Amino acid sequence: MSTRTATAIANSNIAFIKYWGNRDESLRLAANGSISMNLDGLETRTHVTFDESLQGDLLTLNGQQVRGAGLQRVSVFLDEVRRLAKTAQYARVESQNNFPSGAGIASSAAAFSALAMASSRAAGLALNEAELSRLARRGSGSACRSIPGGFVEWRAGARDEDSFGVSIAPPDHWDLSDCILIVSSAAKATSSTEGHRLAGSSPLQVSRLADAPRRLDICRNAILQRDFAALAQVVELDSNWMHAVMMTSSPPLFYWQEATLTAMREVIVARKAGLPVCYTVDAGPNVHVLCERSEEDQAVARLAKLPGVQEVRVAHVGGPARTVEP
Ligand code: PMV
Repeated sequence: MSTRTATAIANSNIAFIKYWGNRDESLRLAANGSISMNLDGLETRTHVTFDESLQGDLLTLNGQQVRGAGLQRVSVFLDEVRRLAKTAQYARVESQNNFPSGAGIASSAAAFSALAMASSRAAGLALNEAELSRLARRGSGSACRSIPGGFVEWRAGARDEDSFGVSIAPPDHWDLSDCILIVSSAAKATSSTEGHRLAGSSPLQVSRLADAPRRLDICRNAILQRDFAALAQVVELDSNWMHAVMMTSSPPLFYWQEATLTAMREVIVARKAGLPVCYTVDAGPNVHVLCERSEEDQAVARLAKLPGVQEVRVAHVGGPARTVEP
């Protein structure tokens, strides 16, 4: 057969305990474990066709042809798929996001998990969940957490074989909402790939890594017991610690904007006033406000009117990546 195709859809995810820094950059083996929640409806849909008539890989994102570094990253990823499938064919990759790329909504997580699933299937591979998660990790570390469903832990592991995401609770375990305060949808100046490289230059990274098993235990237990107060405390600590590492690396990285800090402060004020909410911020300026779904309307009403907040996107707990008919 000269052409082989598959289509997959994957959700983005928001990390409660963050991945920041690699122990092995080329394999994207994380320096610490992480835990996230898949975000239902914030998704990438990717269609892959391996075609023997192609002279090189082709990539379109939201209908626009991508060249240069973006295409190169996808080609390097596809090289791994070609190696596993023992094929030399190039591929046409057509991807669509329904949320802004590069602005702290983990677009690369949805993108590379959808690409892992669609490209491996199109190449004739039948990978299991752990193998798919390991493959997705090679494109973007956080992508390994978008392969399984619900609440997912990436056990950092020490080698390629033991570094993948595992579901710790299904989507219907706990009805949480992520109210994403969009303060900017522009692409960020420093990619997370570059940021991971800088993590080790911060004097705070050693303590952050040493304490990670404790934070992971607290977070995992808070999810399993649906204990929002415990979750809120560890999620904010973990986000603040990662941003402290970013701000103290050489050169320093500042992903926050004024509106980011305004929103974080308002979340703390709201919580003190009795509304159970907490914040977490990825490698971008947008603020993810977590709460139980019963508090979602109140949280959105209070936070949407803050200065600098352009839009609020609400996502609930999402399922696993999946293949679909084209
Ligand atoms: O997967 P990457 O290389 O885009 O890194 C993700 C880094 C954070 O979003 C800041 C944290 C995380 O664990 O998702």
